[in-house]
Amino acid sequence: MPGLLRVAVLVSGRGSNLRALIAARDVGLGIELVGVFSDRTRAEALQHARKAGVPELCMRTAEFGDEAGYQRAFFSTVAACSPDLIVCAGFMRIISAMSLASSAPMINIHPSLLPKYPGLDTHRRVLAAGDPVHGATVHRVTRDLDGGPRIAQVRIPVRSGDDPESLARRLLPHEHRLLVACVTALAAGDVDLVDPACVRFRGTPLDGPLALAEDGALSRG
Ligand code: GRF
Repeated sequence: MPGLLRVAVLVSGRGSNLRALIAARDVGLGIELVGVFSDRTRAEALQHARKAGVPELCMRTAEFGDEAGYQRAFFSTVAACSPDLIVCAGFMRIISAMSLASSAPMINIHPSLLPKYPGLDTHRRVLAAGDPVHGATVHRVTRDLDGGPRIAQVRIPVRSGDDPESLARRLLPHEHRLLVACVTALAAGDVDLVDPACVRFRGTPLDGPLALAEDGALSRG
């Protein structure tokens, strides 16, 4: 039996993806949440962590001279809880190459079918382009903003009458399922990030993201 995967979660806001990870922990999906770290004091996510008994900490940018100094302090605090994996779950900050180089492997959940729509405002951009399908991606964090190797995706149809809010609302529960599926696959060793250049699934490099099925299973797309 492998031990529990030690997961640190980085947040800036609402924390619904964090709650999905807390629920996964609570049903014994192979993870231990070793810390929740925020760059915003008002992040609701901090309250979810507190309620769930996960150590949480907020470090405000204003307390540091510059971004490089902030990230040095922030990521050395994260490293002090010895995570095996760092999950960015609504962490609204561009992570520097230096921070990435000195940290455990990091993944991010992004609300689009990457490489389409990196950055912000994805739901509005999907609708403006008239795409029939939308979705979310979990990918490895690298120096390319939302451009690291993709681990898995979930897709949903765009409905006539959708607006950015309804689309975001319908996608969110699927994001939660996707993130939990990816983190538990990493905990089980089905997915590994040992090679920084690629994601491996059951020992073989992926040439595209895994697909999430209705039943929560991940398979080659
Ligand atoms: C999610 O839509 C996630 O895909 C994006 O930021 C949002 C965070 O939501 N990166 P929450 O804080 O997890 O509720």
